[in-house]
Amino acid sequence: MGDRMNGVTAIILAAGKGSRMNSSTKKQFMELKGKPMIWYSLFAFEESPVNQIILVTGKEDITYCKKEIVKRYGFTKVTDIVAGGAERYESVANGLKKVNGDIVLIHDGARPLVTEEIIERCIQGARENGACVAGMPIKDTVKIVGTDNIIEATPDRRKVWITQTPQAFQYNILKTAYKNIRTATGPSITDDAMVVEQYTDHKVRFVNGDYCNIKITTPEDIKLAETLLENKR
Ligand code: CTP
Ligand code: MG
Repeated sequence: MGDRMNGVTAIILAAGKGSRMNSSTKKQFMELKGKPMIWYSLFAFEESPVNQIILVTGKEDITYCKKEIVKRYGFTKVTDIVAGGAERYESVANGLKKVNGDIVLIHDGARPLVTEEIIERCIQGARENGACVAGMPIKDTVKIVGTDNIIEATPDRRKVWITQTPQAFQYNILKTAYKNIRTATGPSITDDAMVVEQYTDHKVRFVNGDYCNIKITTPEDIKLAETLLENKR
């Protein structure tokens, strides 16, 4: 592989099935205030200092994304639209193959409320620390629960954060981490920080996300997202 560009690449994930949404349209393409959900993430990154955007979507949705989203709305930073995999980490691995930059941001297409400020904090965090994720201290008390809803433990609330995206990394760290999981068996990996935590020696640091940077997961999140989008300046 040749020299890495001194630049920032965003991988935007839209290859999920959205099973918890229970909708005939995949959640990443459902309309929020008249635009497909994925538009909001693409717009935020297009307006940010990011140099390259890689969109990962279902094989069957590549043509739709190319014509009805990237071309139609004129997103000029999208260089590649690639097919995802069955698991989130496989979608990330497919996107990673097209990365030009030396800093990589991975973002859930199901988080339309991401802002330029969060994106900039993540880029800075990756430059300074090598690996960082957007998140916020939890507001509710969290319990660890066993069978029959029996509470087993109450972690110290001050030590519990909710994890958001973007998650940002120096390319080499992320590449090494993803290379290492390929040999492991049956990983149940729900975010990229886990991959770096478990498969490299690098420490991952939180930077502030935003309590409004929610992930759209279930039907009630749609109304909430529309309200939050309306109130966004
Ligand atoms: N994602 C992906 N490839 C996968 C699984 C998830 O690109 N194989 C993306 C989703 O499109 C979403 C983000 O990762 O933007 C976060 O995942 P999640 O919210 O869990 O979305 P889904 O997996 O689509 O939903 P569900 O888990 O309810 O099926
Ligand atoms: Mg999922």
